[in-house]
Amino acid sequence: MKYQANDQLPYGMKGQNNKSTKFVLIAVMSLVLFTTVPFYYPSVTYSSFIFTSFNSDHEPSPHTSSGPGEEYDPAATAIPTSSTHKCDIFSGEWVPNPDAPYYTNKTCWAIHEHQNCMKYGRPDSEFMKWKWKPDGCDLPVFNPAQFLELVRDKSLAFVGDSVGRNQMQSLICLLSRVEYPIDVSYTKDERFKRWKYTTYNFTMATFWTPHLVKGRDSDPNGGPTNTGLFSLYLDEFDDNWSTQVEDFDYILLSAGHWFYRPAVFYERSRLVGCHYCLLPNVTDLGMYYGYRRALRTTFRAITSLKNYKGITYLRTFAPSHFENGLWNEGGNCVRTRPFRSNETVLEGPNMEFYMTQVEEFRAAERVARKRGLKFRLLDTTQAMLLRPDGHPSRYGHWAHENVTLYNDCVHWCLPGPIDTWNDFLLEMLKTERLRSAEERLHSKDRKLLVR
Ligand SMILES: *[C@@H]1O[C@H](CO)[C@@H](O)[C@H](O)[C@H]1NC(C)=O
Ligand SMILES: *[C@@H]1O[C@H](CO)[C@@H](O)[C@H](O)[C@H]1NC(C)=O
Ligand SMILES: *[C@@H]1O[C@H](CO)[C@@H](O)[C@H](O)[C@H]1NC(C)=O
Ligand SMILES: *[C@@H]1O[C@H](CO)[C@@H](O)[C@H](O)[C@H]1NC(C)=O
Ligand SMILES: *[C@@H]1O[C@H](CO)[C@@H](O)[C@H](O)[C@H]1NC(C)=O
Ligand SMILES: *[C@@H]1O[C@H](CO)[C@@H](O)[C@H](O)[C@H]1NC(C)=O
Repeated sequence: MKYQANDQLPYGMKGQNNKSTKFVLIAVMSLVLFTTVPFYYPSVTYSSFIFTSFNSDHEPSPHTSSGPGEEYDPAATAIPTSSTHKCDIFSGEWVPNPDAPYYTNKTCWAIHEHQNCMKYGRPDSEFMKWKWKPDGCDLPVFNPAQFLELVRDKSLAFVGDSVGRNQMQSLICLLSRVEYPIDVSYTKDERFKRWKYTTYNFTMATFWTPHLVKGRDSDPNGGPTNTGLFSLYLDEFDDNWSTQVEDFDYILLSAGHWFYRPAVFYERSRLVGCHYCLLPNVTDLGMYYGYRRALRTTFRAITSLKNYKGITYLRTFAPSHFENGLWNEGGNCVRTRPFRSNETVLEGPNMEFYMTQVEEFRAAERVARKRGLKFRLLDTTQAMLLRPDGHPSRYGHWAHENVTLYNDCVHWCLPGPIDTWNDFLLEMLKTERLRSAEERLHSKDRKLLVR
């Protein structure tokens, strides 16, 4: 790891008040973390993954409203129903769930080393034993057979950063009770993986693009903290994914934390400004500027794909939880219980990132709708804000490894609260199925009326 612990903090940044100093510190902490924790599979650890594949006799099975005590029922009836149809599943509380987790690091091979918290000695396990309870309805426990049935003959692309990869690995683990995928990657590059669930003809892929737009790490040792200064072409598509996703049925976007890092911004091929580059005569436009424009470009990349007919999910910002100090003073996430919703509020950069996403999403959704495309918000922010206990902290690696200088309060232990993102995803797929059934029904009614 290139990063040196004694790198200076950007106290000297011009125009700082206390609030933004705090924000810059968070920025630098994240930046350090992202330098020390690779955002893609390190090939060493990845090669040790073994994806076994076995066929399942389970018949496809949709959900019955399973309470926390119930296992999923593979023999349940065939038509998805949804108890959450008219309820905001993203607003609620965490409640105890003695039956969780639904997999362990022994039953699932797909847990990335840095998120295998139990392996690296995390002493408490309570953080796995919670369930998201939306206000006014229940979110069913993940039903792997039902998920696979809903995505039969379909394909899902995770486009973005390692938090997206974190979710995908959670999904592989949750589905592993029914089937493991086989590796059908077309490149050896670990950042672009493709898996197939053969029984269900379901394909899943990851596209590594931490900033979503075209960019390059122009100077790995440059920038004010010597951790790399990115050049981001805010109005240009990242071909690495934009040319590859046209045939996918679902695109799931994940990005945010990387925009904390110093970067110079280009638009129409010209340098327009930067975020914390401290270069003479380059205007500091701030990270939200870069993030907003990158989102805009991403949505434009998707809506301009001629043959794309899929559903696009924007997974909203997942807050990090550094507390009690700077990144190099032991800033850490040591809580072992979730917050209740009245114990914390969304504020500061978490709020800014979230609002930027929502605003750009709403604007893009209108454009997409005219094109007949569905854009959906996978709105995980509130649920994750309440989970300071869900991060690897220092349990993402062995204690003797030098990277222990920094604590990971950005990614999520597996099993852990991030599993809930796939509960959300399944619920949204079911709602989608229900909606299209209703639409078909209504158009039939209309035809009957016309006659
Ligand atoms: C799983 O976690 C246990 C501790 O709960 C640890 O001893 C073991 O090495 C881990 N196994 C794997 C395969 O990661
Ligand atoms: C598998 O799914 C793809 C779409 O993702 C479809 O084109 C293909 O026909 C399916 N194969 C089989 C054998 O059903
Ligand atoms: C696209 O992928 C290649 C390697 O496969 C990499 O060198 C390049 O930087 C990537 N482009 C972007 C914009 O990330
Ligand atoms: C910055 O801009 C000023 C005024 O345009 C110019 O005199 C100066 O040389 C520039 N400095 C650098 C380092 O480009
Ligand atoms: C939050 O709500 C719970 C239950 O409604 C209550 O017991 C608790 O005292 C509240 N905490 C705060 C900090 O208001
Ligand atoms: C950890 O880093 C220190 C200082 O950078 C170095 O002296 C030491 O050898 C390193 N230890 C290991 C196990 O890499």
